Amino acid sequence: MGNIKTVNLIKEFGEKDNKVRVLDDIDIEIKDGEFVSLMGPSGSGKSTLLYLVGGLDKPTKGKVLINGKDISKLSDNEMSKLRRRDIGFVFQFYNLVQNLTVEENIMLPVVMNGEKESNYKERLDYILKTIGLEDKRKSLPKELSGGQQQRVSIARAVILNPSIIFADEPIGNLDSKSGKEVMELFKKINEEEHITILQVTHSEESAKYGNRIIRLKDGKIV
Ligand SMILES: Nc1ncnc2c1ncn2[C@@H]1O[C@H](COP(=O)(O)OP(=O)(O)O)[C@@H](O)[C@H]1O
Ligand SMILES: [Mg+2]
Repeated sequence: MGNIKTVNLIKEFGEKDNKVRVLDDIDIEIKDGEFVSLMGPSGSGKSTLLYLVGGLDKPTKGKVLINGKDISKLSDNEMSKLRRRDIGFVFQFYNLVQNLTVEENIMLPVVMNGEKESNYKERLDYILKTIGLEDKRKSLPKELSGGQQQRVSIARAVILNPSIIFADEPIGNLDSKSGKEVMELFKKINEEEHITILQVTHSEESAKYGNRIIRLKDGKIV
């Protein structure tokens, strides 16, 4: 499972005379296992849309359904459970904890979720292998390249087996070779783990790793 739907989604910022409509009546549907790229000019509302569907911000009007559930109807508890268990986030800047090792960073969601680390030993080994950083498991983030750090943040996003990953310009800060490696990793995760992916990207090339493109302009789907 890993599907996303929005119905008449509207997001406005500001009050009264300063009110700006950033998302204007967005209806999108992303099915289980899809890998979708969200594209559009800077300021067109891509990150805002990603945050709304990821439950990091609330719409002004309309609704977001994740795996068939209207997320506005969830209790705080259910919402944080959804965010911890079913959704993984990857951002442009990797947000790793600098004084934790690679494996400690990857295991952070397990610890935060109050689960037993020993239950995830095999999954950790498998993920370290998938991201190609088995030999760096005891390294600190500062000892890694940008591309390697981003791979660690992807590993952290998938450790709990989410059904969906939201990524906001995940290769925006990387050189083209590292960018390709990160995109290959997303593709692999999408295909092998059947995790639905919604990525924001500026690059047509990286959008090709997905199955479909949604284009936004001035807060509307084009
Ligand atoms: N918290 C906020 N308060 C006010 N305006 C915002 C806020 N977040 C985004 N915006 C505005 O919404 C528009 C879309 O922003 P964003 O979703 O970040 O665009 P994109 O990711 O496509 O570059 C921009 O004009 C931005 O200035
Ligand atoms: Mg953005």
